[in-house]
Amino acid sequence: MRILNFGSLNIDKVYSVDHFVRAGETILCTDMNIFCGGKGLNQSVALARAGAEVYHAGAIGTDGEMLREQLAASGAHLDYLQTLDMPSGHTALQVTPDGQNCIIVCAGSNARLTEDYIDSVLAHFGAGDMMLVQNEVNNVPYIIRQAKARGLKVAFNASPITASILSYPLELVDYYLVNETEGRTLSGCDVTDYETILATLHEKFPAAAIVLTVGSDGVLYQCGDERYAHGIYRVQAVDTTGAGDTFCGFFLASLAKGLSVPQALENASLASALAVSRAGACDSIPTWAEMEAFAKTAQAK
Ligand code: RIB
Repeated sequence: MRILNFGSLNIDKVYSVDHFVRAGETILCTDMNIFCGGKGLNQSVALARAGAEVYHAGAIGTDGEMLREQLAASGAHLDYLQTLDMPSGHTALQVTPDGQNCIIVCAGSNARLTEDYIDSVLAHFGAGDMMLVQNEVNNVPYIIRQAKARGLKVAFNASPITASILSYPLELVDYYLVNETEGRTLSGCDVTDYETILATLHEKFPAAAIVLTVGSDGVLYQCGDERYAHGIYRVQAVDTTGAGDTFCGFFLASLAKGLSVPQALENASLASALAVSRAGACDSIPTWAEMEAFAKTAQAK
């Protein structure tokens, strides 16, 4: 199965801080690094490092050559990646000593995907392929509709979550990959109980597989009557940035390899734990071999 990812690509400016900056406050960072990132790029890198055949579609700007090089080095196919005459997407990302992050995204060229471009890419794909998209590029509803019309399976990582997502053609999605905050908004129920969020999502989207990551409590899955849960693996947290993207890539790559859902949840949990133990977004994503080696010593919580 080929996976077409209509994904964002960002230059991440990562500031190490003692605490997240507060309203009215000016703080000094202790370190600053520039990494390749963007939920789309990270997920393509994770898919490729996990051995999937992934095609990345999207747009970089004239300053985005490092993003192209990073994707190429991971093994993702770049036949459909555009370069536009404008700045790439970028982020201002704060990371605290315990590895937590908060992110401001400036969309740049990620917000310039035209319907003509989307159609021209989708013309190369059809039944038997999967289309993955996050909510960090423009025209997501159009991408979902057209991919589904061409017979592709649709996977949607509803991140970052916005109120407008509720007006998307959500009933066309085959795989939802969401964290608890995104799941709460999508489900429309203002509760913290994961089981209720999962049950409500399943009720709203009965044809879809729901993958609900719930932070240190792991992940819950439901599709039809199939229900699974998996815990996280213990690591020393360095930087949580990109952990969700790693999970998403390894989960879908495992399915594309024909593995079972419980095995896919395990592989994704192992890979995302490794990502949490390393700095950066896409730099922290392990290879399939690293994930397998970690599986021999890792302890599930
Ligand atoms: O999910 C992590 C990513 O979110 C970062 O790489 C940043 O670019 C934002 O898109």
